[in-house]
Amino acid sequence: MRIVTFSNLKGGSAKTTSTLAVAAELARRGRAVLAVDLDPQATLTTSAGLEPGPAAASLLSGDGSPEDARAALVDASGGADLADGGALHVLPADRRLLRLERTAPVQLSRRLLSFIDVVEGNYDVAVVDTPPQASALVTAALASTDLVLVPVASGRGALDGLGDVVELTERFGTAPVTGAFVTRVNTSSLHDRELVEYVASQIAGPDGEPAIRAFVRETVRVREAEMARVPVPLYAPRSTAAQDYAALVDEVEVLLEQHGS
Ligand SMILES: Nc1ncnc2c1ncn2[C@@H]1O[C@H](COP(=O)(O)OP(=O)(O)OP(=O)(O)O)[C@@H](O)[C@H]1O
Ligand SMILES: [Mg+2]
Repeated sequence: MRIVTFSNLKGGSAKTTSTLAVAAELARRGRAVLAVDLDPQATLTTSAGLEPGPAAASLLSGDGSPEDARAALVDASGGADLADGGALHVLPADRRLLRLERTAPVQLSRRLLSFIDVVEGNYDVAVVDTPPQASALVTAALASTDLVLVPVASGRGALDGLGDVVELTERFGTAPVTGAFVTRVNTSSLHDRELVEYVASQIAGPDGEPAIRAFVRETVRVREAEMARVPVPLYAPRSTAAQDYAALVDEVEVLLEQHGS
């Protein structure tokens, strides 16, 4: 199993939308996917149609065992038509994660990885959603991962958080930033088209070419999927966002292979 962490210290950069969409698209293709919500806002949990819960906080505080966390996993596929072998399970979060801000990231990381050890055989991929702003939870996630993907939302200060994640991964991470991509793109805007090129060029793969070329267009379907509490690839599979996330997942699958999945 490989761990893919979505991070950007800038709020509202489509981390949660992207984590859930990539998870659902991989599941649709027949991968067994575990989505770990590490954000006290629990937006991934609720956007997947689930209720916030103490599982993530209990695990990371040490109050609950990795086996308890495994027992608290919830199916979020909602009866969707997944290819054989596909699964989408979520480790739910809630506001109790806020209490972990003063815990040492190494301790949080150790507990997260001991949980990963316990579920390793059951999943092909774990995706991790992280909160905005530097925190013990973000540092712990970056210190526990195989790949780091950075979504960048078009708009004011779009690039603010990307450099911060690059720096954090260099200082604390187990992997450098693997790829970055722009979301909420308006293809009729020259500025957005330049932003897409620029962000792609910032993070190269092993061949020196952009690790990710995909980008995600702005569409109301994303908000609708959020309100329906269903991941966008399952809610509106023909929407531009679902198509764009499918193109992104094509590239993520290559990156997973390069990182020894
Ligand atoms: N492709 C898109 N088209 C339209 N709206 C989008 C798109 N992607 C994300 N959004 C919207 O942008 C907002 C922020 O997205 P999201 O919650 O995924 O960001 P985030 O980085 O997880 O935020 P936070 O930092 O608070 O955790 C949401 O309201 C979401 O609906
Ligand atoms: Mg979020």
